[in-house]
Amino acid sequence: MKLDVLVLGSGVAGLSAVVRLATPAGLRVGVLTKADLAQSTTRWAQGGIAAAVGGDEDSTDLHLADTLAAGAGLCDVDAVRVLVDEGPGRVDELIGLGAVFDREAGGDLALAREGGHSTARVLHAGGAATGAEVERALVSAVRRSAAAVLEQWFAMDLIVEAGRCVGVRALDPEGARQEVRAAQVVLATGGAGQVYAVTTNPPEATGDGVAMALRAGVPVADLEFFQFHPTALHHPAMPRPLLSEALRGHGALLRDANGEQFVEELAPRDVVSRAMADRMAAQGVGYLWLDATGLESFGERFPTVAASLAAAGLDPAVDWLPIAPAAHYLSGGIVTDLDGASALPGLWAVGEVACTGVHGANRLASNSLLEGMVFGARLAEAIASGRDGPEDTGVMRYLSGSAGATTAGEIACIDVDTGVDSDEDTGPETPDTPPPPTVRSDTGSSADIDVAKLRERLQRAMIEGAGVVRSPQSLRTAAAEVGAVARHLLSATAADAGTDSATDAANSPHIVGGAGRAAGELANLVTVSGALLRAAYVREETRGAHARRDFPEARPQWRCRLVHRAVATPGTLPPHPRTQS
Ligand code: SIN
Repeated sequence: MKLDVLVLGSGVAGLSAVVRLATPAGLRVGVLTKADLAQSTTRWAQGGIAAAVGGDEDSTDLHLADTLAAGAGLCDVDAVRVLVDEGPGRVDELIGLGAVFDREAGGDLALAREGGHSTARVLHAGGAATGAEVERALVSAVRRSAAAVLEQWFAMDLIVEAGRCVGVRALDPEGARQEVRAAQVVLATGGAGQVYAVTTNPPEATGDGVAMALRAGVPVADLEFFQFHPTALHHPAMPRPLLSEALRGHGALLRDANGEQFVEELAPRDVVSRAMADRMAAQGVGYLWLDATGLESFGERFPTVAASLAAAGLDPAVDWLPIAPAAHYLSGGIVTDLDGASALPGLWAVGEVACTGVHGANRLASNSLLEGMVFGARLAEAIASGRDGPEDTGVMRYLSGSAGATTAGEIACIDVDTGVDSDEDTGPETPDTPPPPTVRSDTGSSADIDVAKLRERLQRAMIEGAGVVRSPQSLRTAAAEVGAVARHLLSATAADAGTDSATDAANSPHIVGGAGRAAGELANLVTVSGALLRAAYVREETRGAHARRDFPEARPQWRCRLVHRAVATPGTLPPHPRTQS
């Protein structure tokens, strides 16, 4: 089949693009997803969609200010301006497609308040089942309009020919290798919460798009800013059941092990998660409490949350709810311009997989569905108008030419205001940076390989070493573990891959060919974890969702974006970028 556009992923971002590309633009669009069409992370989104639709109480300027404040100095202001200005129109379009949002008795849209928002501006559906409603509306529109829907297909790698992306290599539902080609390829593959042992993300969120981009040398940034949601139910289920931030917007309180309040409930998410991590460490406990006993009509306002609490044997009218932070959202991703174009002609990225710059160091609550709707539409319009390649706008404007060019293992540090790569103009700052760890040599043999166990080993190492609060030692330990996982993977595939490099093996399609989708996902988790660890190790400050014990404050010299352009050897960490000559 000859496609004009191939969209990978079926969340709000990808499907928002498909409906515009297929119907108004009349292009032949294919959607490829590794699960069923309706089974994306979007479906799990609770709180809602932030948009300044609240009349005189709100404005796009206020939404912009809140987004920039949450992003802790690293948002791209132009991208945020696009987000907040175009958001209300996209909400109207979604309603036109059939999405039904909750309304007040008089018919106005009901708006909730969440952390970091200075006013109530979050639309919701079914109480806290907003993602499911958005997905329902979009899936039904896409089924009517897409030229091809490839479900249960797993994309392994981008096909790059003559300097442009022309398609993907994939496994079909029977596990056979296929090539799917298109004039334009859109990555809308979502997040990477499965990097961590404790997450709200579904099992499919394995960072596939970011990993494929890194393997193709496409710039990726802000990976150290992995947002933890403060109020995941402390429960053996994985993904962890989420207790929406809207509960705090309605008056639920956070309490420590002694029943004391300890942080402002509606502070941005990074602030709350960090305060919780500090309090749990100080009190020697693994969870704290959400007290929703004062909320009236809990069951009517939050029916889906009430149902998941009932399944866990909890009654929010009388029980305090055990909570702990869980990995929730990757604020960074593939660098794009303001229309979703990546640095590689023919390749676009949108939604959680992208780094548009709207989230900076920490995403404002309920800005993610909005980002998917706004930038999915812009991307569709750009492709339909014949655009082919990036423009110097948004985060992309500093990455044209040689800026941000890196070789394997190097990370460029691009000042967010000037675009200057600070490696070049600052001298050594931490000459006593410890040497990179050596990779453990317990590689095992192919007979020992159990992909599921290796995945758990990686996830445990990442939650212990690169969770809410990090230290150089915790990052080194995690890197050594990720390196060991990569080498186990290599031992199973070296003969096939014909290489003795863990990097090559962990990123070779031969792994997938040899061991199927599970090994391919593990290879992607290794790639994303390795890059995340390197950035977290390099960034010697606390900013947004990245907190370092040894540098507890934000530092002005770190108002820069860490950009990766290649895969580094798993298990190694870079020297501090400012110590490089
Ligand atoms: C929530 O309902 O708390 C999650 C919303 C989001 O992730 O923005």
